[in-house]
Amino acid sequence: MMNWKVFLFAVLVSIPFSFLKGQDVFIANIQDREHRCLDGKWEYIIDAYRTWGMGGMAIYKNATPKNKTDRVEYSFNPAQTLWVPGGWNVQQPELTYYEGNIWYRKTFNEENISKNNRYFIHIGAANYKTTVTFNGTILGTHEGGFTPFSFEVTDLIQPKDNYVIIGVDNSRQRDYIPAEVTDWFNHGGITRSVNLVAVPSTFINNYFIALDKSTLHKKTKALSGKMVLTGDVLPETARIIIPELKVNQELTVNSSSVVEFSIDVKHLELWSPDNPKLYQVIFEAGEDRVSDEIGFRTMETKGKQLLLNGTPIFLKGICLHDENPLRQVRANSMEDAKLVLDWAEELGCNFIRLAHYPHQENIVRLADQRGILLWEELPLYWGIQWDNPEVLTKAKQQYSELINRDYNRASSIIWSIANETAPIPARNEFLGALADYVRTLDDTRLISAACKKDQELDGHPDSVYTYNDPILKKLDILSLNEYLGWYGGLPDACRNKSFHTDLDMPIIVSEFGGGAIQGFHADSLTRWSEEFQAYLYEESLAMFDSIDGLVGLTPWILVDFRSPLRQLHGVQDGWNRKGLISEKGYKKKAFFTLQAYYKSKSIEKDK
Ligand code: GCU
Repeated sequence: MMNWKVFLFAVLVSIPFSFLKGQDVFIANIQDREHRCLDGKWEYIIDAYRTWGMGGMAIYKNATPKNKTDRVEYSFNPAQTLWVPGGWNVQQPELTYYEGNIWYRKTFNEENISKNNRYFIHIGAANYKTTVTFNGTILGTHEGGFTPFSFEVTDLIQPKDNYVIIGVDNSRQRDYIPAEVTDWFNHGGITRSVNLVAVPSTFINNYFIALDKSTLHKKTKALSGKMVLTGDVLPETARIIIPELKVNQELTVNSSSVVEFSIDVKHLELWSPDNPKLYQVIFEAGEDRVSDEIGFRTMETKGKQLLLNGTPIFLKGICLHDENPLRQVRANSMEDAKLVLDWAEELGCNFIRLAHYPHQENIVRLADQRGILLWEELPLYWGIQWDNPEVLTKAKQQYSELINRDYNRASSIIWSIANETAPIPARNEFLGALADYVRTLDDTRLISAACKKDQELDGHPDSVYTYNDPILKKLDILSLNEYLGWYGGLPDACRNKSFHTDLDMPIIVSEFGGGAIQGFHADSLTRWSEEFQAYLYEESLAMFDSIDGLVGLTPWILVDFRSPLRQLHGVQDGWNRKGLISEKGYKKKAFFTLQAYYKSKSIEKDK
């Protein structure tokens, strides 16, 4: 029988976990660095009561019995395995709805360790709270299920038998982002790739470059930005090379590890959906060299217009979750990204709202190549603890990780800071501070939030929806979610609605739609039929078309997605059915309704 004192000691020691935090270093563009991919099968051990973390139960010590008397009550060898990357929920039946902690282990040899290199374990994302350990040492913890992080292992790595042991806990908590209730599936685990990354002792951990919008209409344009270096010994110079633009510029590195630059270029081809032009851009500093494919464009608002490269644009969009419906998993590959972008392009889209959290990097890079514009957001969704300053700190941390990752992506044009949150004072303050913070990190993109109409009747007849959310003053674009005809009334209720705001800003309808079972056909007033959904789209599109200042739409949603909130038997069965495509990849009638509408918008534009 286990001695309860040992048990209590183990639990008590485990509580102050986070203060053991090592330095989480951001390293951009892993794919262009020297790296060893650690994806594949990882052993795992379920830790339902979070007891395996510390003290005598320190599972990350990877202990094995040394002799017959030894008592070691866990083993990674043998152990069950899980695929990484991948949510654990679809991999083992007993893990379908498991929410808790799981310890993963991967072992590997690294024969050619170079003394001139530093080594990091880089994780594309792990949901939600992650403890990373290496060769028996705790490196640190990370919170947030959708952004990359890495920890250094230079002093720990050895030629043989290295072991990475990672604890991932996807339980939902009130002070988390997202909070406890979401209308999407809480895929737990190491959901994106893990790599061992080798960089020179002084390296470029990130770089930022963008077209200076004040030079948009000039013959000679300016590309400005900065390189961020890490290392004890900084080089005297750094270099930027853009072969196609005949740029090969030396930069002086002063005492700070941030090298700012502004480079004049001629004959710059601007990135746009019609011409997704990417340039190879090479950053060099000391022994380090990183190459990336980057497009240059400007994004601005002018009154109620949205200007891409100075020209008004209409966003023919759709919403999307980061899931491959056919495999029922969190998306994590270029194939997963290709699947959904192909569907979006078939729909006639030039824009996608990546809801409600940072999606995998592959889809953002593929959107760059294909000329699809993106809206990105953090899961500041229902039930956020707005009055908790720690939660604001977490939001800033998650946003800085996202912006660090996608700043150089031309496709990404809008940062959204919230979805459907009531305008109470604590929330207004929180989001106001977050909007200001995001602007300090990135002044090349626009900021929005998916808002709701004014709830209380403010003297306007209820045929007029008004928008006076105080957060709008902090935003560039008014985005509204509207489910008239589904959550309120029937589709024909859309006929005598109009939208009013005093604010001189562009408007995006960031969500509308209704559910349908693919293959169920009936009259257009029968809920869950394809005909009802198509009828709802017809009426909604006509209603939104009348909005003065409408610059885009992102209907909810491209494809059915998994949600624990949706349990209507024989209809939902764990899926939100508002997709225009079923989880098996079959298109519903409304897909063609929207496709025709976007076609008409393109014809209108070309006139
Ligand atoms: C909300 C919400 C979505 C949700 C959708 C729905 O507006 O933002 O996350 O899935 O409505 O009810 O289907």
